[in-house]
Amino acid sequence: MSTNTEARLFSPTTIGAIGVVNRVAMAPLTRSRADMEGVHSELAIEYYRQRATAWLIISEATNISREGRGYAFTPGIYTDEHVASWRRITDAVHEAGGKIVCQLWHVGRMSHVSLQENGAAPVAPSAIQADEQVFLESQTVERPSMPRALETAEIQRLVEDYRNAARRAMEAGFDGVEVHAANCYLLEQFIRDSTNKRTDQYGGPVENRTRLPIEVITAVAEVWGADRVGVRLSPITRAVGDTPLDSDPEGTYFYLAGQLGKLGLAYLHCVEGQTRGDNGAGDFDFKRLHAKFGGKYIANNSYDRQMAIDAAESGHADMVAFGRPFISNPDLVARLRLDAPLAEANRDTFYGGGAGGYTDYLPLADAA
Ligand SMILES: Cc1cc2nc3c(=O)[nH]c(=O)nc-3n(C[C@H](O)[C@H](O)[C@H](O)COP(=O)(O)O)c2cc1C
Repeated sequence: MSTNTEARLFSPTTIGAIGVVNRVAMAPLTRSRADMEGVHSELAIEYYRQRATAWLIISEATNISREGRGYAFTPGIYTDEHVASWRRITDAVHEAGGKIVCQLWHVGRMSHVSLQENGAAPVAPSAIQADEQVFLESQTVERPSMPRALETAEIQRLVEDYRNAARRAMEAGFDGVEVHAANCYLLEQFIRDSTNKRTDQYGGPVENRTRLPIEVITAVAEVWGADRVGVRLSPITRAVGDTPLDSDPEGTYFYLAGQLGKLGLAYLHCVEGQTRGDNGAGDFDFKRLHAKFGGKYIANNSYDRQMAIDAAESGHADMVAFGRPFISNPDLVARLRLDAPLAEANRDTFYGGGAGGYTDYLPLADAA
């Protein structure tokens, strides 16, 4: 490995309108430490501040509406209180020299009646219950409830919910937004023919199944300018349970990437393989997906230092996003640069709780 290859991962670039000083991003990480109204505590300010040297932080998935919520204690971006709590975080990240985009989330069928207004059924493209797990206020994990299929006439309201959340993210001082179309949540439920059995203009052929994601991304780009909007996809993940894949992942996602490429977006962010599984495992050509998109590409999923250096060097990735390593190494970029050892994250404190496993991982100097 030459010094030059190292330099590229740690060298500046631009991602749409966002200038970054290195090519290591922090992947979105749900930590389930907000209150039940989706408002962050003080701890979250410290957590994000500690990680500001990830030049680009992608926030934990953030609910665009009450209906979009599928897990207890996850943050929202649709009320004044949400905006105020995120504003303190974006200010802290900016003061520390970092940049942060907001991941916009609607879980679709991956929700539970206990998390919905008046115990309503979650909404989805089709009434097919997910064989997954959601985290409830009772601190227990349960199977998502049977969803109801959205009426065609309701779908524009969803686009408006995304648009509203995008505006709120701007008020909250983010540098941009990432539309979460990955990990088998609402937008990916529309994309895949396994979860979308609709017969209207939002179901059937791939042009129809990708209509809602494209309408949403277009609406969000009207708010922000396309060069501050990214999108996350995960063509071959089965989420945490067993969400079936599309019957033709390459055909479907190559088509979508080509359409997204026409929108002039800031970036495409891809979970390469089963989320948290081996990188790229499975039969999918992510390099070709990047080529179809034609713009900036953020690669993710079980990357280590050498893989990230190689991906930046080969041109496969413009940035590499790290998830779990950022939980336990707030100064991950410095450690990667020095090739210093990484601390292991404690899985028991991934979700919920307080400072333990959240803000108490030390940077290298203090750890030594
Ligand atoms: C605790 C935890 C929370 C996660 N939350 C999110 C999330 O909110 N949004 C999302 O798109 N992915 C989420 N992911 C997936 C990560 O962004 C990432 O794709 C995954 O951890 C693989 O990257 P890594 O090997 O670098 O950890 C989460 C993963 C973990 C471990």
